[in-house]
Parts: sequence; structure tokens; C-alpha cells
Amino acid sequence: MSRIDGQPARPALLCALASVLAAATAPDPRVTVPSGASRADAPRVEAAARDGLARAVPLVGYDRARCLDGSPGRYYVDVYGDNTKIYVHLQGGGFCGSLGACANRSRTPLGSTRPDVPGAWGPTLDLAAERPYFSRNATRNPLLADFTHVFVVYCDGAYFAGNVADPAPEPGGDSLFFRGRAILDAVVADLDLAGATDVILGGCSAGGIATFLHLDAVAASLRAIAPNAAVAGFADSGYYADVPYYTNQKRFPFEAQNVTADPRCLADHADRPWACLVSSVTAKYAFAARGAAAGAFVDACHRHCDRVDAGHDVWNISAQGTTPLVALADWFSHPRGFLVEQAPNASYPCESCC
Ligand SMILES: *[C@@H]1O[C@H](CO)[C@@H](O)[C@H](O)[C@H]1NC(C)=O
Ligand SMILES: *[C@@H]1O[C@H](CO)[C@@H](O)[C@H](O)[C@H]1NC(C)=O
Ligand SMILES: *[C@@H]1O[C@H](CO)[C@@H](O)[C@H](O)[C@H]1NC(C)=O
Ligand SMILES: *[C@@H]1O[C@H](CO)[C@@H](O)[C@H](O)[C@H]1NC(C)=O
Ligand SMILES: *[C@@H]1O[C@H](CO)[C@@H](O)[C@H](O)[C@H]1NC(C)=O
Repeated sequence: MSRIDGQPARPALLCALASVLAAATAPDPRVTVPSGASRADAPRVEAAARDGLARAVPLVGYDRARCLDGSPGRYYVDVYGDNTKIYVHLQGGGFCGSLGACANRSRTPLGSTRPDVPGAWGPTLDLAAERPYFSRNATRNPLLADFTHVFVVYCDGAYFAGNVADPAPEPGGDSLFFRGRAILDAVVADLDLAGATDVILGGCSAGGIATFLHLDAVAASLRAIAPNAAVAGFADSGYYADVPYYTNQKRFPFEAQNVTADPRCLADHADRPWACLVSSVTAKYAFAARGAAAGAFVDACHRHCDRVDAGHDVWNISAQGTTPLVALADWFSHPRGFLVEQAPNASYPCESCC
């Protein structure tokens, strides 16, 4: 299991459900045409030592932005070019479904940025070696190859959506912090995106779910500081079916972490508001404003994120003559609704489709 995959709690569940509806692109509105202007301010972060090697930025100046164990949230950045095009990737990794599970998680890199947890986050992270979204090869990754790459550590256990003011007592006697949304807000503030021309928020698995949940809010805050920036969302393997076995597990994170979801979704699902953490439920609200400009790449392969499974790799999953990252680039340049489906009538999993 790779460092970034960090899929601890329910890999089988997430894997199986996500692969049924592996949406490689989950979009949002181009707000306006990119201005093409250069960033006025020098970036706050220094260029990394080499391509793909991102540098850690601890969110020490943001008091609320804490991981489960109370340590500061963190992101990694690999600045590219004039730093006007930014891809912000939210790490995935399940969620914690009880206080005990959150306590356990708070002693891992998915709940802490402390240097003394086993497998702790280091000062740099080699993004290109881990994920095709971060490839600097423009043939494989035509859209994001020349973007600044930001990787946000997922250490809150609830999709960057928790919002509890006071730390909760945990069974072991320590305190748990449920502050995921403050981490995301701090990252957006710290990146200082006022000069950005193109911003894409994305993620895989839990990070894809978080993309569905937060894209509208991030787009709104960008409109205030960079009104000409083009903003889009890119959720990989984050579109899950609303079935009791899966959706019922969202009740704990929703309630314990005081998740704030779309008010229209909450009103429509008053009897089970935690369904608003399930992307097949949320998408209707999250993408309402985008209407026909949303698109999806649906593959029938047994795949979760870009983890190579039986040789299937996001580079070469092909449907209707395109691959997911090429479809993303095409869509971003010419925003429109699209659906690329691989063997629509095949039964999942379709080994011969991959
Ligand atoms: C927490 O970790 C301990 C030790 O590995 C394990 O025995 C326990 O079942 C875990 N608790 C939960 C709720 O996952
Ligand atoms: C870039 O990707 C293409 C397609 O996968 C490959 O043929 C080419 O060798 C790659 N270039 C480099 C420099 O790795
Ligand atoms: C829960 O979140 C709301 C905002 O959505 C906030 O007003 C409230 O104070 C939070 N509750 C707790 C217990 O932190
Ligand atoms: C797809 O890519 C993977 C890894 O790069 C490789 O192992 C596999 O053989 C490729 N499959 C096809 C059909 O090209
Ligand atoms: C899929 O099945 C439907 C109904 O059976 C049929 O109308 C459609 O043409 C099929 N599509 C493909 C691509 O085979």
C-alpha cells in the first residue's frame, strides 16, 4: 500500500463500491475565461528541489486547523512555472466510524502530523512517483502537468467536513479534534490564490467525496479574491451508491463531527441527513449550478483511485478512444456535459474491458 493511498479502515468496502461507479471526472462550472494574468505576488512557498518533490507546509498559523490528535494540519506543495495554475488534491483514506476508531486513527498519519507516529509525514513528498494526477508528462497528463501541485494531508477522519469547536474526550483519555473543514479553509487561505488563473480541486476516494462536498464553497471563496479564475472539480473514485450498508456508516462521522452539508440536501433528507455525505446523493445539489457542464468518465474496471489492480492503470484505461486524464484536459478546455462510459452493458467487474 503506498503512502498516499493510506487506506486504513475499510478498503474492501470503498474499493468495491467505488469501482461500480468509478467516476474519474466530476466537474463543475468554469467560472469565467482564464484571465492569463501573472501572479502579482511572489509565491509564499519556494520551488521544490526537483519536479514531483513537494515541500511540507504545516498550518501552524491557523489555530483551528488541527488533525484528530490536535497536531497542525499540513499540505505539500510543488510550485510550477509562475504558479498561476493550481491543482489542490485532497488525500483519501476512508473515515473513522466510532470514537475508538478515531482515537486509533489519531495515532497514525491519517490522524496526526506528529513526527513520532509510525510512518510519520516527512518534510517532502514525492508526488509524481505516487499518482498520475501529479505526472509532469504532458502526454499522460495533459491538463495538470504544468500546474502547481498541492497535496492536502487527510488527518481529520471525516472528509475535511468536521466542525466541532471543543475537543472531544476520547476513550483513551486524550482529546480528539474534529476540525477538517478548518484545515481545508486554512489551506485555501495559506495558498494565497488571489493571482490564480486556474484552480482545480480534486481528490480520490474520501478526497473525491470531499471534492463533491466542498467545491461550491471553495469556488465561492475564490470568486471573492480571484474573480477571473477558472475553477473546476475533479473527483476520482468518490461517487458511491446510496445503499444502507454504506450510507448507514456515515451517521457517526456526520453527527460526531458536526458536519455542515448543503442545506437543500439536509432539508430533503431530514430523516437521515448523513446521506448528504454520499456523493450520489450530494451531486444533485453540488452540481446544480453547473448543469450541463458536468461530465463523467465511468469505467467498468476493478479499480480504486489509480491503484494498479490486475494491471489496470489510469494511464491506459480507455473508453471511446480516450483515457480519464485526457478526457479531463479536453473537458477543461471546452467545458460541456459529457459521459464517457466503458462497455456500458458489461457486468462489473469487466476484466476484458480494461
Ligand atoms: C483500536 O486499536 C486497538 C489496538 O490495535 C484494537 O484492538 C481496537 O479494536 C481498535 N478499536 C477500534 C474501534 O477500531
Ligand atoms: C510520457 O508518456 C508517454 C505516454 O505514456 C510515454 O510514451 C513517454 O515515454 C513519456 N515521456 C517521458 C519523458 O517519460
Ligand atoms: C456546529 O457547526 C455549526 C456551524 O455549522 C456551528 O455554528 C456550531 O457551533 C457547531 N457546533 C459545535 C458543537 O461546535
Ligand atoms: C496499463 O498500464 C500498466 C502500468 O503502466 C501496465 O502494467 C499494463 O500492462 C497496461 N495495460 C495495457 C492494456 O496496456
Ligand atoms: C446496451 O443495452 C441497451 C438495452 O439492452 C441497448 O439499447 C444498447 O444499444 C446497448 N449499448 C451498447 C453500447 O451495447
